Amino acid sequence: MNKRKNINIDINSEELKQQHYMEQVKQWNDEYFEKTSRRRKHLTVTYGCQMNEHDSEEISWILESMGYSPADNKEDSDLIIYNTCSVRENADLKVYGQLGALKALKREKPDITIAVCGCMSQQESVRNFIMDKFKHVDIIFGTNNIYKLPQLINSHLQTGETIVDIIEESREIVENIDANRKYNFKAFVDIMYGCNNFCSYCIVPYTRGREKSRIPENILKEIELLAQKGYKEITLLGQNVNSYGKNLETPYTFAQLLRDINEVDGIERIRFMTSHPKDLSDELIHAMRDCDKVCKHLHLPVQSGSDKILRNMNRKYTKEKYLKLVEKIKREIPNIVLTTDIIVGFPGETEEDFKETLDLVKKVKYDSAYTFLYSMREGTIAAKHEEQVPDNIKHERFQRLLDTLYPIFYESNKNYMNKIVKVLVEDISKNDESMLNGRTDSSKLVHFKGDKDLIGTFVNVKITDVKTFTLEGHIV
Ligand code: 5AD
Ligand code: SF4
Repeated sequence: MNKRKNINIDINSEELKQQHYMEQVKQWNDEYFEKTSRRRKHLTVTYGCQMNEHDSEEISWILESMGYSPADNKEDSDLIIYNTCSVRENADLKVYGQLGALKALKREKPDITIAVCGCMSQQESVRNFIMDKFKHVDIIFGTNNIYKLPQLINSHLQTGETIVDIIEESREIVENIDANRKYNFKAFVDIMYGCNNFCSYCIVPYTRGREKSRIPENILKEIELLAQKGYKEITLLGQNVNSYGKNLETPYTFAQLLRDINEVDGIERIRFMTSHPKDLSDELIHAMRDCDKVCKHLHLPVQSGSDKILRNMNRKYTKEKYLKLVEKIKREIPNIVLTTDIIVGFPGETEEDFKETLDLVKKVKYDSAYTFLYSMREGTIAAKHEEQVPDNIKHERFQRLLDTLYPIFYESNKNYMNKIVKVLVEDISKNDESMLNGRTDSSKLVHFKGDKDLIGTFVNVKITDVKTFTLEGHIV
């Protein structure tokens, strides 16, 4: 085990400042409770990736530490926060729709506080649009200053003014914020913030700033505390976990981090998201192979199978290099499950380029994939490209990609037929309360009959039927 683990981390002056504002807002909320016997309530609505989901868990912890309790709906809320995503245009449009719909509520309940944070807030043009069109928004903050929320709420309450607070460079690493996690057996843990890759289609480097790694001591301390509380599975989060540690004073790699976390008693499964193929080292492949708790699942976004498109995307690998990497991974970790992200209709993508993508997915035989229609994001290099692919061609290719992928997923699931798999039970099925959902180590979703008391435990399930996206079976 890494000996740096037992260092104590001191609270810094920024953290003390925020604690002070937290107490002020809490006092205001407690006084309201004493007078009315009702707690002020918050609703935090999240769009986008797992990083955003985890940011919302932190936001919710901050709010509840200040005396807010969670609300079930907008009408019963005193504070509504939209944690936004900007990766594709659709996500922006949904938030505009939501903000528009809040105008009437704000008129009815002028004391309600409305806040917007996340990737949309980080872009100046979007911010200006929100301030111009949705004057009922009270607080705008970003991805890098969630820790300042107590101060921002306090300032708004004191002055009644719209508060806009954005930090351009990547997130300050503030360690005294906990999270109200959705589950009590599996947890997200941030290991780094930001991205340095500037893939030409992607807005993230502009909204989340440059890469910054948390020091391993703090990550390990958080995971040990989670293990003590009974958490069994952790997912390490970063835009590109493979380059974890590059900015640390003492050299330390993601592979070393996996090996150290593998030693934490109580943690039984370690997952991580996301890996850039260009940075996937042999050291990491070996760590995945050697560490029994590291799930044998790798999400390795390829984006396209065409060398020309990959070059224009600034991905820094070719189709051949990617396929060689996959071959090596499959050789070293024979039971590995591979998933990916694919963008269809990147500017300049021809039929030939698209066929290269179809060829690649047939060769890799992914277990699952997230597929996206290219969405033009203002401010990125690809948005300036003149040869945008027409919508009808994008949609037609998208459908052909799915038609190619689905039989591959189904074939891969067929390998599970009649096998017994270890499943971490996650929740009750939405459609049938007697059915449970869980995941295998390889992240396959499994449906089976069982009692809800099993949630958060491991069970063995014999697979008796397989579908394109799920496995079905019974507990043995
Ligand atoms: N258009 C479509 N998909 C995108 N992604 C990122 N930016 C865009 C965009 N502008 C996809 C990539 C990435 C995933 C998180 O989102 O595939 O891996
Ligand atoms: Fe976006 Fe590329 Fe960074 Fe992923 S690696 S967040 S796709 S710029």
